[in-house]
Amino acid sequence: MGTKNARTPARRQAEPVPGLPARRTALRALTAVLTDRLPLDAALAGELGALAEPRDRAFAHALAGAALRRRGQIEAVLAGFIERPLPKSAAEARAILLVLGAELLVLGGAPHAAVATAVALAGAGRARSFKGLVNAVGRRIAERRDELLEGADIARLCTPDWLWSRWSAAYGEGTARAIAEAHLEPPPLDITPRRPDDPLAFAEGAELLPTGSVRLARPGPVPSLPGFSEGIWWVQDAAAALPARLLGPRPGERILDLCAAPGGKTLQLAAAGAEVTAVDISPERLEGLAENLARTGLSARIVAADAAEFVPDEAPDRILLDAPCLATGTIRRHPDIAWSKREADLGPLRAMQARLLEAAGRVLAPGGTLVYAVCSLEPEEGPAQIAAFLRMGGFSRVPVAPDEVPGLAEALTPEGDLRTLPCHWRERGGLDGFFAARLRKAP
Ligand SMILES: C[S@@+](CC[C@H](N)C(=O)[O-])C[C@H]1O[C@@H](n2cnc3c(N)ncnc32)[C@H](O)[C@@H]1O
Repeated sequence: MGTKNARTPARRQAEPVPGLPARRTALRALTAVLTDRLPLDAALAGELGALAEPRDRAFAHALAGAALRRRGQIEAVLAGFIERPLPKSAAEARAILLVLGAELLVLGGAPHAAVATAVALAGAGRARSFKGLVNAVGRRIAERRDELLEGADIARLCTPDWLWSRWSAAYGEGTARAIAEAHLEPPPLDITPRRPDDPLAFAEGAELLPTGSVRLARPGPVPSLPGFSEGIWWVQDAAAALPARLLGPRPGERILDLCAAPGGKTLQLAAAGAEVTAVDISPERLEGLAENLARTGLSARIVAADAAEFVPDEAPDRILLDAPCLATGTIRRHPDIAWSKREADLGPLRAMQARLLEAAGRVLAPGGTLVYAVCSLEPEEGPAQIAAFLRMGGFSRVPVAPDEVPGLAEALTPEGDLRTLPCHWRERGGLDGFFAARLRKAP
């Protein structure tokens, strides 16, 4: 094992190295994502508690996020410096190099600190025999950073081949590239106000979006933002807030929210005054939903059940089905998804979505409205699912009108479904990719 033209052997590092704990936390979270396929948020939640300083927590988060968001770009650079691919058993060394590459190439960190801490991490764990390699590669990246960043097709490198092919086939190569470019930077934070007229305390730097969400460019930790503990808003991407609006909830109506946890859409429906029953199969995720209801002072009936088998006492007037999916529309918020999901996951998800749609169709009151939504860019989970459902009869589409999604006419399909893409509202900071269709059951 060696570097091409490796020059300087690793120097012995004396602990404690400043900044090491944050990088160690990033490394552990990244390893949990790459080896155990854990979602990044869950991996970070398990590790961030080790850091007392909010600044360190933010840094660890940024490092792990950048390592995943720019993984393809970083690995392409590393491949230019490492003669032979590292063996399978060198997972820790690979993750250390990814964190180091993220700091040097993406976050633009100070080279000395980045390399010294990466070497210290290697020396402290199972990557001990790669200390020299880490040191040499880090120094060479730092020396040639600007040159290494020039001319690389970063959007393509950071998109796994199977996703690039799928998006090119579904939307055309230009749009596939725009989607991939939208994934390269961390997105702004969007929140949904409990009441549209709630005075939002953080007016500075906040943008009221045409669809009613509020966007914060550089928000800082969510729990310390004004109004969070008072429950006057919740975190929800502007696109994720649209399906509940399209359902058109009215005060006093019985609404069934299927696949509801952690409850962003439940909160919207409850805030509209509807009598909401929120169903989810995951008791743990429903705990999060219950906490969100308590914080916002809203109420809903919570049911832990398989939504494909749940039968309500009375037929609901409206149903929102936010089905489990590949979630490729949320890669800019969850860059781990690009690497942890597989094309083979699609088959079981499609079967589950079809089962859930059929069940929702059965229990909805005659004349009632059903909104089906997925945060996926894959046509099989969106338009194809709806086309198959409509072929079975008994339902018709209620097209979404442009004035229901102000400023987002480009997100309406010719059939009248909603199809947001991460590259929509690019100048504002993008949107998650959501598909939603609104259907009416025959009276
Ligand atoms: C896209 S998430 C829902 C997000 C949620 N609607 C919101 O707005 O916060 C999908 C949810 O489906 C749930 N789920 C998966 N299979 C299910 C099933 N068969 N029945 C009920 N819930 C299910 C998962 O536990 C997960 O919480």
